[in-house]
Amino acid sequence: MAALKGRAGYSVIGDKSAEFYKDPITFVNWRIKEYDSRVFLSRLLNKPTVFVGTINGVKELTGAKNRHFDMGYRAFLQPVFGNNIMFETPAEAARLHQVIHRLYGAQTVPSVKNLIQRLTEKHFSNLDKSHCVSVYTLFKRFATEFSLELFLGLDAEKHPDLTESIIDVTTTHWHGIISVPLTVKMSMFSSSYGRALEAKDKLLGIIRDKLAHTKDGSSLQSLTEAGFQTAEELEQHTLLFTSALVPKAIASMLTSFLIATGGSEKEILRQQAAEDADCLNHILLEVERLWPPFLGGRRLTLEDCVIDGFKIPKGYAVVYITHAAHRDPTIFPQPETFKPERWKDRTSEASNLLFTFGGGVRSCVGTALMKTTLQTVCRYLVEHYNWRIPAGQDLSYKWLPVSRPKDNTVASFTPRLPQETSTTNST
Ligand code: HEM
Repeated sequence: MAALKGRAGYSVIGDKSAEFYKDPITFVNWRIKEYDSRVFLSRLLNKPTVFVGTINGVKELTGAKNRHFDMGYRAFLQPVFGNNIMFETPAEAARLHQVIHRLYGAQTVPSVKNLIQRLTEKHFSNLDKSHCVSVYTLFKRFATEFSLELFLGLDAEKHPDLTESIIDVTTTHWHGIISVPLTVKMSMFSSSYGRALEAKDKLLGIIRDKLAHTKDGSSLQSLTEAGFQTAEELEQHTLLFTSALVPKAIASMLTSFLIATGGSEKEILRQQAAEDADCLNHILLEVERLWPPFLGGRRLTLEDCVIDGFKIPKGYAVVYITHAAHRDPTIFPQPETFKPERWKDRTSEASNLLFTFGGGVRSCVGTALMKTTLQTVCRYLVEHYNWRIPAGQDLSYKWLPVSRPKDNTVASFTPRLPQETSTTNST
């Protein structure tokens, strides 16, 4: 068994949270290089924390060795989100997984396809050809309307005022969430944190009201009948889903897709993606690999155990870094290069090699739904447009709270010519 490299340092003065949250990728990459190890020790949120940046390590942590760990979010996220599956013990999480799966699992995808298609056409059928479009904003609006309709049955066309006021509240709520890691270190009561708690109560009020007025046969009615044990449990989970978390993750992935496939040098790739669903799938897997919306996940060690050959003592935190694991050079040669073709003969392995949606029993309940959503939008875009990302923009990424370019990237779209689209239309 190998000894962990790195240092947990002294309590408080040895804490590296500020350095990590300022630039997590530099923090991780610098230590991987310094220790010549993709698994290392440091101190985060004032706890000795083992960072795991290998495919094998994340697979063990989320899979076979999952029982040695508790989820590590309760202390800093529970106040702003309330109780939900993310903070639960294994038994409770398994029960809630089943309930949520009934609502949003893979078998529900066919019934949501119309909604995805309708909103795809609404938001992307008429992209402004004369002006550059702010990409993340465009996708965020689509994803927000999608999630409000999916989780709250709220049609933005029919209820524009309510939609806007919910967006306002979720934005305030979100600003409190992103202030959390550092306010935990100092004090929980920054002003944005206080406003986030108020926003949470407002959002819960709106959710309660919607749930109290469900109509027979509506999507909200299926929520009330899914098997949540109490009204409060249902409301808290609806809060989790209607928060800005899901729209931001969707917008992050669509933005990365658009940037990775933009420009004249990618024209052939876009053409292939328009004609061949496998090619589009390989591109999306590569987008997941290089730009996962969430940097990783956190666990607390319940008993001594071994991850990827390193002993982890009871009481330590473990942070898996999806960004680093997805660049594990033992699994992905030329890890920094965008190479959709690497998935050609490996598509079936993807669920074991990518952790964009987590892994094992605590993996994301919405995976199939999200993959279908991303595929639908991206297929629509490659079938209908060519696009380029005008030069001179800073495309470097920030990684927290979700990955996206630091600057608001703009793109310019041109409709594909009829002969370009004819092959696609005939299939
Ligand atoms: C692109 C969008 C999404 C991404 C990238 C994503 C990603 C993730 C990740 C990485 C985890 C695991 C966290 C961990 O290991 O600590 C997770 C868990 C979860 N996700 Fe998603 N998610 C997305 C959308 C959704 C949607 C739409 C739903 C709603 C059905 C959903 C429901 C859940 C639930 C319930 C869990 C917790 C599972 C548990 O703790 O047992 N997610 N998600």
